[in-house]
Amino acid sequence: MVISGTQLAKEIKEKVRSQVEEVKTKYGRPPHLVVILVGEDPASQSYVKGKGKDAEEVGFKSTTILKPETISEGELLELIKSLNTDEEVDGILVQLPLPKHIDEEKVIETIDKSKDVDGFHPANVAALWQKMPCTYPCTPKGIIKLLDKAGVEIAGKKAVVIGRSNIVGLPVAKMLLDRNATVTIAHSRTQDLPKVTSEADILIVAIGRPKFVTEDMVKDGAAVIDVGVNRDPGNGKLCGDVNFEECEKKASVITPVPGGVGPMTRACLMENTLECFLKKQNKNN
Ligand code: GUN
Repeated sequence: MVISGTQLAKEIKEKVRSQVEEVKTKYGRPPHLVVILVGEDPASQSYVKGKGKDAEEVGFKSTTILKPETISEGELLELIKSLNTDEEVDGILVQLPLPKHIDEEKVIETIDKSKDVDGFHPANVAALWQKMPCTYPCTPKGIIKLLDKAGVEIAGKKAVVIGRSNIVGLPVAKMLLDRNATVTIAHSRTQDLPKVTSEADILIVAIGRPKFVTEDMVKDGAAVIDVGVNRDPGNGKLCGDVNFEECEKKASVITPVPGGVGPMTRACLMENTLECFLKKQNKNN
């Protein structure tokens, strides 16, 4: 079974959209998401465009701020601080990666925790790892929702996550652990990776290499979630970290690229923005 992220994302966004209608009447304005893009990386441009499009679709106020590659770290931090104090901004997202002269950690730390719709702020990360209330990072949250939608049992299962980034690998491993999976975090230097992955009931792949996971690495009946977005060096087309044609035969469920995790990340960003908005309104009233 191929799980459509596009379809589930549509359902989630529809739910957000109807809640936005309600909150507009109740609080006098819709949630406002601000996305900052530094530089002109085509992949980042396309991600940011998708986020703005989804924000408008659910009825948010959406602002995209484009800054040149040459912006100084200080200027970027000042921009974030001014958005932090703006009462009518609910969510702030700075698209990563940033140019090398800008310290990403500093940028993430500067975003007010209550407006951190990405869930990247260190206070948010700490809350996640301590099982405290937190904003769940969008891609891991989307992955768990996809598994649930597909009816994949998580508790008691063996999950293998390939990749250990702050954005995907580490948080998704923690979220699977909290759902009582037994989790292995593997990476490019894991020895005999096929042996490790072929024991996985749930295989999450976020290594960033085109068609890295082949048939021999997948257990029969496994659920395979492909977080990769790559260009196929052969034909230049978009492809995942999983060789879909090969692995589809073995997996019980598998996500496509495009149309799998990508749309779910954006739908969860919409949910997170609405949550941040509601938290603020409930504090003020
Ligand atoms: N770059 C790749 N994924 C993400 C994401 O989820 N959020 C941000 N801000 N940048 C990213």
